[in-house]
Amino acid sequence: MSHATVYLDHAATTPVRREVLEAMLPWFSARFGNPSSVHRFGREARVALDDARDRIAATLGAHPDEVCFTSCGTESDNFGVIGAWRAARQHGRRAVLSTPIEHKAVLAACHQVVREGGSERFAAISRDGVVDEHSWRDACDDQLAVASAMWVNNETGVVQDIPALTETAKSSGALMHTDAVQAFGKIAFDLRSLPVDLLTISGHKIGAPKGIGALFIRRGVELEPLMHGGAQDRGRRPGTENVPYAIGLATACELTVQERDAHCAELLAMRERFESRVRDAMPDVVIHGANAPRAPHVTNLSIPGTDAETLLMALDLRGILASGGSACQSGSVGMSHVLSAMGVAPDIAHGALRVSFGCLNDHAGVDRAADVLVTLARKARGLVTA
Ligand SMILES: Cc1ncc(COP(=O)(O)O)c(C=O)c1O
Repeated sequence: MSHATVYLDHAATTPVRREVLEAMLPWFSARFGNPSSVHRFGREARVALDDARDRIAATLGAHPDEVCFTSCGTESDNFGVIGAWRAARQHGRRAVLSTPIEHKAVLAACHQVVREGGSERFAAISRDGVVDEHSWRDACDDQLAVASAMWVNNETGVVQDIPALTETAKSSGALMHTDAVQAFGKIAFDLRSLPVDLLTISGHKIGAPKGIGALFIRRGVELEPLMHGGAQDRGRRPGTENVPYAIGLATACELTVQERDAHCAELLAMRERFESRVRDAMPDVVIHGANAPRAPHVTNLSIPGTDAETLLMALDLRGILASGGSACQSGSVGMSHVLSAMGVAPDIAHGALRVSFGCLNDHAGVDRAADVLVTLARKARGLVTA
């Protein structure tokens, strides 16, 4: 990356950490065994895979057999929601509950449940992007198979009260899933004291490669596998395990948890610096979710009279890389379903930029990005009023 580039899209993805790459490298070639083989190469790979599982479990406060490797956060979300629903429907529970601000992986999994004969419910969201607990409670009854709410929103950074939502869902006899893809490393939690049944993480948001994730599945929770064909991962997730990536995920999880508090303090300082610099120059900037608890790495803002797509392209030309709405929706800057659920007016939502901080940022870059954004927004407004 050239010196001038300021990458402000860490919620979309992060580079693979040097320590992660070094830990993975031998397992691609020299130590390439299949963990299901009984010979020494296989046994060596099995030991490494088990060790990775142990280390991930330790960072979550889980038992190793509660960690199921997947290909990504999207797969973990699908498995958590659809797998739990398919298992529970045999016991007469046919509904899923979620929120309208979830990642598309969860929303689409709920729609799949409907296609398979179930029903979906969505709790209301406040204007600040927080799940309405009354509405959530009203939707929890003896028909509910599984409830799913994301911990940290990938577009706004707004944090949900997952312990409270979990308690409500579980008191109705349902299972509780949370998508913690953006929360891992930003919020301290321990699954020994938080009774969620299912929890999703993804490697590439925390310095591991794209294409590895995990689903925490609490002991005793029944899931119907999404795929068929092998006995790997206790029959829950067939297919030869991706040993190097599992090792990479374990290394990334450990480093992320060790560095969490210090890193979060740095992220918060950068986000506050960025927001106040933009706000000082443009007092009418709208920061979405500003009144709600937020994780420190994301800000989502609209400058009235500007359009996100034009701003993003102009920022890119000056080496500032941010995102509009959710980058998980492959580069499109449409109307965000999250801002729409929060009741943001379409003209303001169309101007929304997501700026997300991380390991590649420092204060000088943050200041430059804020200043360039302000200059471009002023120009855009000049054109609008001309
Ligand atoms: C909150 C959230 N959930 C799920 C995902 C999907 O993860 P993955 O890209 O590993 O499929 C993402 C990001 O893409 C995300 O931000």
